[in-house]
Amino acid sequence: MKLFDVYPINNINIVRAQGSTVWDDKGNEYLDLYGGHAVISIGHTHPHWVKRIEDQLHKIAFYSNSVQIPIQQELAQKLGWLSGKDDYQLFLCNSGAEANENALKLASFHTGRKKIVAFKKSFHGRTSLAVAATDNQAIVAPVNETGNVVFLPFNDEDALKKYMLQNGDEVAAIIIESIQGVGGINMANESFLQLIRTLCDQYGAVFIADEVQCGYGRSGKFFTADYAGVNADIYSMAKGMGNGFPIGGILIAPHIAPKHGMLGTTFGGNHLACAAALGVLEVIEQENLLERAGENGNYLMTELLKIGDLQNVRGKGLMIGFDVPDELKDLRKNLLQKHRIFTGEAKPNVIRLLPALNLSKEAIDNFLQALKEEINALKFAKESSTVAQ
Ligand SMILES: Cc1ncc(COP(=O)(O)O)c(C=O)c1O
Repeated sequence: MKLFDVYPINNINIVRAQGSTVWDDKGNEYLDLYGGHAVISIGHTHPHWVKRIEDQLHKIAFYSNSVQIPIQQELAQKLGWLSGKDDYQLFLCNSGAEANENALKLASFHTGRKKIVAFKKSFHGRTSLAVAATDNQAIVAPVNETGNVVFLPFNDEDALKKYMLQNGDEVAAIIIESIQGVGGINMANESFLQLIRTLCDQYGAVFIADEVQCGYGRSGKFFTADYAGVNADIYSMAKGMGNGFPIGGILIAPHIAPKHGMLGTTFGGNHLACAAALGVLEVIEQENLLERAGENGNYLMTELLKIGDLQNVRGKGLMIGFDVPDELKDLRKNLLQKHRIFTGEAKPNVIRLLPALNLSKEAIDNFLQALKEEINALKFAKESSTVAQ
């Protein structure tokens, strides 16, 4: 049987990983600044996380949500404490799309309304409503098309105010990534997030912060929306939550009341996933990873800003992007092939850095050195070919 060929892949077989280092089947070592797409939060195969999962595996891996699962409560407790959202409620699922699907659905149940406000260049996942709220027609199937989602320009306060003035009474939710990931590391202004809070209060709509990529400590605070000093009504989470073990969830403000049967899942919140997620939170706490992500991110950002050839260096904590000018268009490919460094991308010309939160300063310095070398090599090659012509 063939695999369904939907992924453009690098011809590399990663067989082993530790911290921010991965090795291929030929023994080559790579620096992972992509974190398997922002998933690796506490470092690959962190010993505490491995032990947590191993111990749980010997007890029980799964039973359905029809019985008590105390480890879910333990996770909720820890998550509430570390995120500062103690009074919120937790619903567990398995992925980022599923988290947003449930967040949007819950907003609609709660308000009795149908309209969703999303923003240009957003990415919220590939399930039906999450993809309908994703600004990429290429991945929206005809059956997912709906007139219920409107895309407004990101950070355009006047456009949002105007839309809400005319349609606010019909809006169930405003959903936003505080830093757009797939869209190319675009940061929401704090005043824009504050305005969303005000308008949601004014019109009775639900503020959904999609923190699947920018959350869970990546920006240096637990949620990036926290920088704006406002609370969302629902936070969606996944990626870094399990450090590679599939788990997602939503944090739900106390005023949104549950009803039996309203949401549900077979696998969500299973014992093994909760053990993995608790392992992650324990390491975040023990190793002070929010602070470290902030500090390391500041250092990396400061150094990147000194490299004049990179354009528009931006981001927060360890979620950083920069534009690559046309003359350096092979930069990302060469970093991987020549220097064995994984980075992320966003079309058309953005390099995205999404490493583990405990990336070492030494690894950052190695990356900066390779980056500068490669930029010089590409510029030299370009100049030589111009002279030869
Ligand atoms: C902001 C954001 N939301 C949702 C998702 C979807 O998550 P998943 O791929 O786990 O369904 C992603 C994935 O990249 C994302 O970046």
